[in-house]
Amino acid sequence: MSLTKEIQKRRTFAIIAHPDAGKTTLTEKLLLFGGAIQTAGAVKSNKIDTATKSDWMEIEKQRGISVATSVMGFEYQGVKINLLDTPGHQDFAEDTYRTLTAVDSVIMVIDCVKGVEIQTEKLMEVCRMRNTPVICFINKLDREGRDPYELLDEVEEKLNIQVRPLSWPIGMGKGFKGVYNLYDKKLNLFTPSQRKLSDARETIQNLDDTKLDELIGGNNAMQLREDVELIEGVYPDFDPKEYLEGKVAPVFFGSAVNNFGVNEMLDTFIRIAPSPKSRFTEEREVKPEESKFSGFVFKIHANMDPNHRNRIAFLRIVSGKFERNKPYNHVRGPKPLRFSNVTQFMAQDREIVDEAFPGDIVGLFDTGNLKIGDTMTEGENMTFKGIPSFSPEIFKEVINKDAMKTKQLEKGLKQLMEEGVAQYFTYEMGNRKVVGTVGQLQFEVIQFRLKNEYNASVEFAPMNLYKACWISSKDKKQLDEFIRSKSRHIAYDKDGKVVFMAESRAWLQMVQDNYPEIEFHFTSEF
Ligand code: G4P
Repeated sequence: MSLTKEIQKRRTFAIIAHPDAGKTTLTEKLLLFGGAIQTAGAVKSNKIDTATKSDWMEIEKQRGISVATSVMGFEYQGVKINLLDTPGHQDFAEDTYRTLTAVDSVIMVIDCVKGVEIQTEKLMEVCRMRNTPVICFINKLDREGRDPYELLDEVEEKLNIQVRPLSWPIGMGKGFKGVYNLYDKKLNLFTPSQRKLSDARETIQNLDDTKLDELIGGNNAMQLREDVELIEGVYPDFDPKEYLEGKVAPVFFGSAVNNFGVNEMLDTFIRIAPSPKSRFTEEREVKPEESKFSGFVFKIHANMDPNHRNRIAFLRIVSGKFERNKPYNHVRGPKPLRFSNVTQFMAQDREIVDEAFPGDIVGLFDTGNLKIGDTMTEGENMTFKGIPSFSPEIFKEVINKDAMKTKQLEKGLKQLMEEGVAQYFTYEMGNRKVVGTVGQLQFEVIQFRLKNEYNASVEFAPMNLYKACWISSKDKKQLDEFIRSKSRHIAYDKDGKVVFMAESRAWLQMVQDNYPEIEFHFTSEF
């Protein structure tokens, strides 16, 4: 098959959701449709239970599950689908942000009872930064949820994206009758079933057809006619191009646990979702059709066994064909690298593959050469842009408890940061080292792993910090002057980029007002 055909047949995406909205359930149903699994219950949630939060082994077990399900590949109607898993626990949100750099589109799940929740808002911000196309699945229609119009308004308002319903619910909760597919003009009747895969569909070309009244009852039929008229009047026609530009999110309604509405979303998804897209390096745009291979590492998963300090690096292929055992240019590193242990994930199984194509994710067995953000190419020296760091939420100072083990500590911290476990800042003054994370859990992870894998003991002292802001200015002199005058609050991130450590929101505001020529960014990519 030609490279172009391989590219056109692929769709690489992630499902994002606030915990409990139904991401795992939807994933499982998609795999069932793809024939990748046979029974419900085969996909394990990657949520880390709060009750087991500080039970390290339990977390490890769960991380083990999450590596197995990091990428789930399956075929559906001739399309190769690569579904990337995102961590269920919000303390690992950074991991999710990075995963979003490796996909071409996302499906966002929203619970119809709860509406748009905080984690969804944050994830959507990341999607917007890169104009990632989004399909919205409003889930749990078998429950008494919020009014669908209200939900759509909330999505538009909170997620700052235009919506276009492509299906419309008939009733909700106990009175849920099904959905009407506005795109195909088909009626999809609801029968609660966790097993049944195909929904009964009735084609209703004309909503005035009395067949509609027979099927869903007079009142529902009347309501649906009114709703459809209103929707067609209020929302402009769905334009796939606007979806591909990340400007409009098509919306589907359904109930994942009941297999309802999933099939029609998947059918639309394979029709409209983008095939692997170009990516930008610092130097130029790289198109998937280019014959030479290129790709970037967006995730690293370490083996916790201290005797085998190997890890799996996840590489997204951007262009050309990736081949096992072929030496490739490791742009940041001193020598070419060749990988014999290259795995791909089909459904639940990991298998060695000899080749992979743009859009594919391969797991590379690595002994410590790779780090997040690394570019691999077939020769060219270029670096893919954009594995962003976001300002952490919690900051703690690293206190070394064993001066004899300083070297181990530094090595351990460096490696853990390369895996993206947390962020690391070094203050200009006094060389104080600060670890920043999205959640409390990572501190336990770091402390445990430093001891277990590097034999280094640390404690973490709480710090009163609000945000780490990457700073820039068009006026270099002003920037230097700012760094000098605020030197007590200046630190450097792992890449040596300068950051301003703001102690409170009010204080940051004041500094921003006083230094209008300095730009403050909450992400390292600007
Ligand atoms: P997550 O990965 O986004 O965190 O969510 P997950 O799929 O684990 O779903 C969270 C809960 O919501 C699960 O219930 C799941 O069964 C339920 N759920 C998912 N889709 C639907 C739906 O369409 N309707 C209804 N009513 N519930 C749905 P749980 O009680 O936490 O787990 P379980 O014991 O049912 O597995």
